[in-house]
Amino acid sequence: MVDISRYRADDRSAIEAMQRRAFGDARTEALQARWSWLYESNPQLAGGAPFIWVARVDGQVAGLFATIPVRLSVFGTEIDANWGSDVLVAPEQQGKGFGDALFRAWDSGTGAAIGLSLTDASHRLFQKLKWPYIGTLPRFAKPLSPGAITKFTRTERPLLERMALGWRRRGHASRRAAGTMERITRFDDRATRLWERVAPTFAFAARRDATYLNWRYADAPGAPYLAALLVQGGEAAGLVVYRHVDEDAGRATILVDFLADPSATDVMATMLAWVEGEARAKNADVLRAFASHAQFQAALRDAGLDDRPSTLRFVAKVNGCALPPDYYASTDRWHVTRGDSDGDR
Ligand SMILES: CC(C)(COP(=O)(O)OP(=O)(O)OC[C@H]1O[C@@H](n2cnc3c(N)ncnc32)[C@H](O)[C@@H]1OP(=O)(O)O)[C@@H](O)C(=O)NCCC(=O)NCCS
Repeated sequence: MVDISRYRADDRSAIEAMQRRAFGDARTEALQARWSWLYESNPQLAGGAPFIWVARVDGQVAGLFATIPVRLSVFGTEIDANWGSDVLVAPEQQGKGFGDALFRAWDSGTGAAIGLSLTDASHRLFQKLKWPYIGTLPRFAKPLSPGAITKFTRTERPLLERMALGWRRRGHASRRAAGTMERITRFDDRATRLWERVAPTFAFAARRDATYLNWRYADAPGAPYLAALLVQGGEAAGLVVYRHVDEDAGRATILVDFLADPSATDVMATMLAWVEGEARAKNADVLRAFASHAQFQAALRDAGLDDRPSTLRFVAKVNGCALPPDYYASTDRWHVTRGDSDGDR
């Protein structure tokens, strides 16, 4: 008999023991180090219980589904949503329907069940449940050092297409927005007002107000993130969040999050040029970004980032508001980035 109920604080040690058996010590310690921040200090909880569902057998913890609550904007209508984050069924209990029951509990407990960066097993389970599968989150990269060209970004784009893109990029190169880039360590009301202005244009976007952005980036464990605003006349026309990371193949600068009016191509061009300058100042070999929105993708391509294969699978089931019949057919107006959910660890 599968028993699913909400998490209680005294479940935590049993969950940690189960994670150690399934994932080993190093990964469990990394997961546990983020636990309080991610699930218990999330500003969306407003003092309520964490959105974690626990499967029990004879009262013993046999699985968990931990989710991150956010507000989701669907063409300006805000609903509650939860990113599915840490999912685990105890190894000896797998294949008995616990995963299925946990995913259904999540779905019925939220206005939108959304997931990014799925494993093969959970992807298969989503297919079995017949949830809308959105595809992978498009990835883009620009090599910045000569050695990086072969290491990071062997392009599959045909020569003629590359030449046409090169001409288009040159045409765009001079378009820069007015205003100045301002480095920030915390977000303020300017970010919230930017979000309020641009949110209605998105078919799908997690609310990126100052409260969310400060929790997600400024207060994240280890705080590896850097951020800046493009300020015009005292207001934020755009924001960027990025980090530098040393990988096996070299140093990468990752554009983790960004926000702007998608039609303001000069704003995106200015912010992307600035982040590239930051990357070059740190001797990064590659600049990398992820974007689902068609206009943001165009801005990335214009800034010299090429389409790269992506493995970040994305699923979304929006229950909490009326949707147009073709809602899932295109993500051209969905704003999803690397910083959504908790994939950027
Ligand atoms: C993903 C997971 C939670 C599924 O839990 P579960 O209790 O084993 O799943 P269920 O018994 O409810 O199985 C339901 C369906 O999931 C899919 N599935 C489950 N385990 C799978 C596996 N190892 N490989 C491929 N598909 C799998 C199958 O479609 C299965 O349906 P079927 O049995 O009719 O073929 C579990 O496999 C797990 O903990 N995996 C390790 C951690 C992980 O991958 N987490 C997901 C992070 S996104």
